[in-house]
Parts: sequence; C-alpha cells; structure tokens
Amino acid sequence: MSLLEIVNLENFKKVLRNIRKVGLVTTLRYVISDLTFDLKYKIDTINTAQLDALKIDSPNKTVGNYYEGTNAYIFQKMISQVRLEPSRVTFVDFGSGKGKAMFMAAERGFRKVIGVEFSIELVETCRKNLEIFKAKSKSKTEFEILHMDASEYEIPPEANLLFFSNPFNEELTRKVIGNILKSYDQTPREVWVVHLHPQGNMAFVRHPRFEVQHEAPEGYVLRLLPSN
Ligand SMILES: C[S@@+](CC[C@H](N)C(=O)[O-])C[C@H]1O[C@@H](n2cnc3c(N)ncnc32)[C@H](O)[C@@H]1O
Repeated sequence: MSLLEIVNLENFKKVLRNIRKVGLVTTLRYVISDLTFDLKYKIDTINTAQLDALKIDSPNKTVGNYYEGTNAYIFQKMISQVRLEPSRVTFVDFGSGKGKAMFMAAERGFRKVIGVEFSIELVETCRKNLEIFKAKSKSKTEFEILHMDASEYEIPPEANLLFFSNPFNEELTRKVIGNILKSYDQTPREVWVVHLHPQGNMAFVRHPRFEVQHEAPEGYVLRLLPSN
C-alpha cells in the first residue's frame, strides 16, 4: 500500500463525514491509526468496496453493507472492554472483508481468529493480506478464513468473542442471533459480542438474552446471559 493508493474521492468523503460526525481531533485520530496500520504491514485495508461492484452469490447481498475496514482506534477502544483472557479467545468476525479486524484481533494475542465473508474478491484480498501479516507480525494466532454467507455459518463451540462491524441489517442479525443461541445451547460457555456502528440495528441491544456491558457512540459490548 502506498500513500498514492489511498488519495481518492471515497476516502476524502469518509474524512469529511467523520469530521461532521465526531469532529476534527477524533477524525485525525482515526486517520492516523488507519494509516499507521496499513503502512506498518504494507497492506490495503483502508480503501472501501461497494457490494454492487463485487461478485457475491447470496440473496443477502441486498441487505449487506459495503466493505469498510474497522478503524483501529475504535477497535482497540471497544475490544478492551471485553473481559476474556486473550489466550482463551476464539474471535469470529462476521463479514470480515479484507481482514483488518482479524489482524487487529491477532495483535491482541487471541488464540484463534475466524473471518466469514461472502465476497470472493474480498476473501482473496484477505488471504493475501494474511500472508503478509503473518510474515511481518510473527503472530502465533491460528487463522481461518471462510468464503460464505455469515448467516449460514454454524458457530463452533469454542467461539466466545463474536464481532460485528455493521455487516448487515437487523433481520439478518436476528437470524445470526438464532445461530448463536443454538451454539450456546449445544455448548454453554461465556460469550461476548461486540457490535460496532449499529446504525439503528437494535437486534442485540433489545434481545432479552444479551446484556449490555459497555455502550459508546461507536457501538455496544454485550454478554450472552445463561439460559434459565
Ligand atoms: C463494514 S465491513 C466490515 C469489515 C471487517 N469486519 C472489518 O472490521 O474490517 C462489512 C463486511 O461485511 C460483509 N458482509 C455483508 N453481508 C454479509 C453476509 N451476509 N455474509 C458475509 N459477509 C457479509 C461485506 O462484504 C463487508 O466486507
């Protein structure tokens, strides 16, 4: 990734949007943390990708949100609210895109990181990024990248930190919640959810089985309550 590759209209619009939403100082924090991340590993996670421009073989394409890597500053701020020992964490990113959240999760020393993404182009970019990330970081994290619709993903018994950075609408989120509850019923365990940029999607927050542990303008950190 070179600086020239990120000087484009989409990124300019994103900066303006953020200045309006969170002010100049916080926007600068976002920009610097994003640039630092991509320059550190020499990968591209900053540039956005619209779903219309991607080959996606899923009826849920229409309710999915475009690719935008999670900001590094926001990720650290929200993930640090999760009270799980990193070496015991299996992190799942629902709609993993180019892999940015996966790599940031690995930087925290999580045992295993799984990415689920329905765009084959993004999966291929993520796989290339992963090779570069592994070589540069010497990370010991185990990785798995799955090319599939995240709402069809059977959540494995060890998954205990589930990450959503505004991948899809409320209805599909409710379907995934059904999958989470099913996985929990088969293997009861401590499960945490980070839901960023919900943009009016209240599926987790309003669900009786999830308890908000931390709330911020950027989203929610929740815990799954045990079944009675
Ligand atoms: C806002 S981006 C988040 C990217 C990534 N999680 C990160 O934090 O860097 C949302 C991603 O979700 C993917 N997505 C949307 N709907 C999906 C679905 N039903 N199944 C799998 N991926 C989906 C999009 O292709 C996009 O890459």
